Amino acid sequence: MLTTYLAALAISFCLAVKAYRHYMPRTKLAVSPDVTSAVRAVLEPPRSSLVALLSSRAGSNQRLRRSFQLTNTFVSEDPQLHRAFVTKAHGLVQDQSSTRARTAFAELCSVVVDDYLSNATRQGQVARFDDLVQVVTFKVILCSLFDADLGTLNDDDVLFAARTINELWQLSKQPTSPPSHLLPTLNAHLRSWLPGYTNPLDFIIPTYETMWRVVAVSVALVHLHGSPALLDAFADFLDNPGRHEFQHWPLNGKSSLEAVIQETMRLYPPTRRISRTANLPQEATTPTSSMFSFLRPLFSPHHPSDEMKIQTNITVVADIGCLQRDAAIWGPTSTDFDPSRFHPSTLTQTQKQCLLGFGYGRLKCVAKDWAPHTAALITAAVLTKCRGQTEGYRITEGVSVGGREGWEGWEVRRTAMA
Ligand code: HEM
Ligand SMILES: *[C@@H]1O[C@H](CO)[C@@H](O)[C@H](O)[C@H]1NC(C)=O
Ligand SMILES: *[C@@H]1O[C@H](CO)[C@@H](O)[C@H](O)[C@H]1NC(C)=O
Repeated sequence: MLTTYLAALAISFCLAVKAYRHYMPRTKLAVSPDVTSAVRAVLEPPRSSLVALLSSRAGSNQRLRRSFQLTNTFVSEDPQLHRAFVTKAHGLVQDQSSTRARTAFAELCSVVVDDYLSNATRQGQVARFDDLVQVVTFKVILCSLFDADLGTLNDDDVLFAARTINELWQLSKQPTSPPSHLLPTLNAHLRSWLPGYTNPLDFIIPTYETMWRVVAVSVALVHLHGSPALLDAFADFLDNPGRHEFQHWPLNGKSSLEAVIQETMRLYPPTRRISRTANLPQEATTPTSSMFSFLRPLFSPHHPSDEMKIQTNITVVADIGCLQRDAAIWGPTSTDFDPSRFHPSTLTQTQKQCLLGFGYGRLKCVAKDWAPHTAALITAAVLTKCRGQTEGYRITEGVSVGGREGWEGWEVRRTAMA
């Protein structure tokens, strides 16, 4: 009977609730007509303590903890570990925020793209686009944030590390455990590159794993839809990589580079869904004891029997990808790539509130201002090197824009003149 009731509520929406019971299959529910506030309430339920927030995040990240043996704040409910990790991450980002650091980073990106492509396309070989973006992003993130030595980052080993991280991520979704040698081999490389870090993946996963996908998609979208003027703007940005150049809206109808990254992350947020897992105690006398008690109305009228009093672990999924493409919020062109929608004169308050690519509330990303600027610089280095005839390389597009996978057909080759 309960199942029927839940099934009746199952509407496709940007918020999904999965209740786990040993006798009940997962069920998707629609919860609130106000999807935006509901999605935000998942990420920061009213009156929830920091420990409750951390614990519900850790609960839903168990498979990542297992696959990568993470020990960071993403898999822990310890508020002290949270504070230490966030402080450390914030410091890393601060050190890379000055104009001087941005200039050095832009140069690093150019050098790394150049080195990779000249080797990977020698003797008429064709470079895979996803390999290029992964290797370049991996190297520039390790050498900037974590001070790795570029000379020690061998292309083959970096590519192995990047592919292994992808593979372990995909395998974490499977019930079977991954081949036992993968993680130790990966860690041996990472520790040799970052000797100061006991468990380098604790830092590499949150920084590199999202970044490379933003870069890959933004290069792809600009390649597919960008004007020559936009490509010029990216090339200029490499020479003047400051915050002002990143945010500036030119008068001639071009959009800001920041808007290009925002639009990329709106359409293809690297963290498409954020889940939280917590208990939903059934006792009606403790209305605020669970962080998801705001969902109680869905359950409470329907647990009259003892059977229904079994504790329910409930996983709530904020579907950011869905919210950020919702035509009710973004209009009929919601799925088109159009950076100009981010112009301050047109972006609405509701739209601003619906941009959740860096999360929301107390656990939102510490790099939400730093990361887009950084992604734009790596994007600029790749695009500028691959502008065709005069620059030496060109990109060929595949059938569709990929994510962690799905870049078949996307390639980079030398132009005849290079
Ligand atoms: C484009 C790149 C990035 C994206 C899309 C991204 C996205 C996110 C998201 C969605 C969250 C919230 C997770 C949740 O609520 O469960 C988050 C948290 C976090 N991110 Fe990022 N991130 C990026 C880059 C970085 C970088 C470069 C750092 C570097 C230091 C970083 C450090 C963190 C930390 C420490 C948290 C946890 C904050 C807390 O627990 O209070 N992220 N990120
Ligand atoms: C060039 O590529 C080959 C094969 O992919 C690789 O073994 C080699 O390490 C690369 N050279 C440099 C200098 O990175
Ligand atoms: C609910 O979660 C707790 C800890 O998060 C776990 O020990 C327990 O087995 C889960 N119960 C069910 C029915 O999944």
